[in-house]
Amino acid sequence: MSLHPVDALIRRLPKTELHLHIEGTLEPELMFALAKRNGVALPYADVDALRAAYDFSDLQSFLDLYYAGADVLRTRQDFYDLTWAYLERAQADGIVHTEIFFDPQTHTGRGIPFDVAFGGIRQALDDARSRLGISSRLILSFLRHLSEEDGLATLEVALPHLAGIDGFGLDSSERGHPPSKFQRLFARCRSLGLPCVAHAGEEGPPAYVWEALDLLQVVRIDHGVRSLEDLGLVQRLAEARVPLTVCPLSNVRLKVYPQLAMHPLRQMLQAGLLATVNSDDPAYFGGYLQENLLACRAALDLSADEVVRLVRNGFEAAWLPAAEQARWLADVERIHADWQAGSAG
Ligand code: ADE
Ligand code: ZN
Repeated sequence: MSLHPVDALIRRLPKTELHLHIEGTLEPELMFALAKRNGVALPYADVDALRAAYDFSDLQSFLDLYYAGADVLRTRQDFYDLTWAYLERAQADGIVHTEIFFDPQTHTGRGIPFDVAFGGIRQALDDARSRLGISSRLILSFLRHLSEEDGLATLEVALPHLAGIDGFGLDSSERGHPPSKFQRLFARCRSLGLPCVAHAGEEGPPAYVWEALDLLQVVRIDHGVRSLEDLGLVQRLAEARVPLTVCPLSNVRLKVYPQLAMHPLRQMLQAGLLATVNSDDPAYFGGYLQENLLACRAALDLSADEVVRLVRNGFEAAWLPAAEQARWLADVERIHADWQAGSAG
């Protein structure tokens, strides 16, 4: 079968990833290898049995498995290997800049010191700059099912490592844990001079997106697909050019939408939202970044202009210096123009 012309363009474009949980890149093969290395017993006979369990009914059913899987991560080398494996895949996908989340409380809560997880991830990101040509940002994300006090204590432990942290996020079980629960924590994060983001409007209502904007003063919304239910919110997000880091395959796997063909990605673009495409937890959701773009192209019949818009939005939304951003955007334009010339001939 010949390659769809827009798919060829997707493969050629430089890309960003702005919504990626490093713990969500733990492939079953690596999970088993680390379990063996660390003497951890897994409740699955093999990789196939584990993969067969990746049949989620909602966000919580995924999170239960995801937190259990993270238990194989014990040493700094484990976190390095996990992160490096992702970065090699990212390079193969044409990602030139990635902004990744890590959840320190997932690890400190089971006795793994903060600097073990942070140190391994940070070292791999630093090596990727020189060895793979990938730039990155690291976002410390707080678990919203835990208390604000737990988040504040985690922030204290992180303070000596602040030079290696680029921003703060909020993730985990959304329903029943509104952004308003974390106002003091995020005020403290902002006082450190770093940008904040939050998962909002994935399963939770548009009111949570308003709260993330107004109470936590985030600069980006992670997911945010349910914003479409509130026209006033759409207007606010569009006018302020607040980026939304949308994760289409994740939304289907977690039953936010029954199938990809029903995903509102195009409506988001048409409403003037600064939507970007990302992979969230690719080891669990069946595809890394490029696969998300290719699957959306096929299911939604995205045009080349729509694909280029999504990719451009990624660079616009990224925490990159203006000169680097402009350089990548110029590359996108040039590759798009070359592709147009080729597909016209
Ligand atoms: N943690 C990892 N993936 C997540 C998601 N999609 N939503 C909330 N928390 C998460
Ligand atoms: Zn996420």
